[in-house]
Amino acid sequence: VKNVGDGLHLRPLSSTDYDRGHLRVLEALTKVPDPGRDAWLRQFQLMQQSKPAAYYTLAILDAATDEIVAVGSLFIEYKFIRGLGACGHIEDIAVDPKTQGKGLGKKLIRALTGLSEALGTYKVILDCSEDNKPFYEKCEYKLVGVQMAKYA
Ligand code: ACO
Repeated sequence: VKNVGDGLHLRPLSSTDYDRGHLRVLEALTKVPDPGRDAWLRQFQLMQQSKPAAYYTLAILDAATDEIVAVGSLFIEYKFIRGLGACGHIEDIAVDPKTQGKGLGKKLIRALTGLSEALGTYKVILDCSEDNKPFYEKCEYKLVGVQMAKYA
């Protein structure tokens, strides 16, 4: 647990964070249908099962309200290239609208990037909208390539 100021604690997502507004915070990013606590917990546990570990979600908790105010994930992709290297993918960054613009997003990205590097990845990548490009530039990321997608 890292104190990131004002009673805000940066720490791994916990199995009880369904009740601390985890999905509500993700609504800053996209529509998030509520699967219910049991299904949420099964998904949480599924992400803990991979060996070596591949899923890491960090959350910032407001200790005063016991509510999550920011979340972000790191996925580790193991490769055949780069001398059997690994690449970090940053995904699903969301800061509660009430606490946006206070540096929490930047702290999350710094923590997830540091975690990826500590796990030995040779690069960290992410996809974002044009609107968010300046935010990621402030986090020392730069534009490379083009995102392609095919939705089911
Ligand atoms: N345009 C220009 N600059 C920006 C923007 C923006 N859209 N957003 C933040 N910044 C700047 C800030 O001014 C600040 O600059 P400074 O360091 O010079 O003071 C710096 O970036 C860091 O800003 P934070 O306060 O850390 O940003 P915040 O906590 O608001 O988090 C985030 C940014 C994550 C984009 C938040 O606004 C959010 O949750 N938005 C809705 C969901 C979303 O779009 N998530 C990202 C999707 S991409 C992905 O998940 C990989």
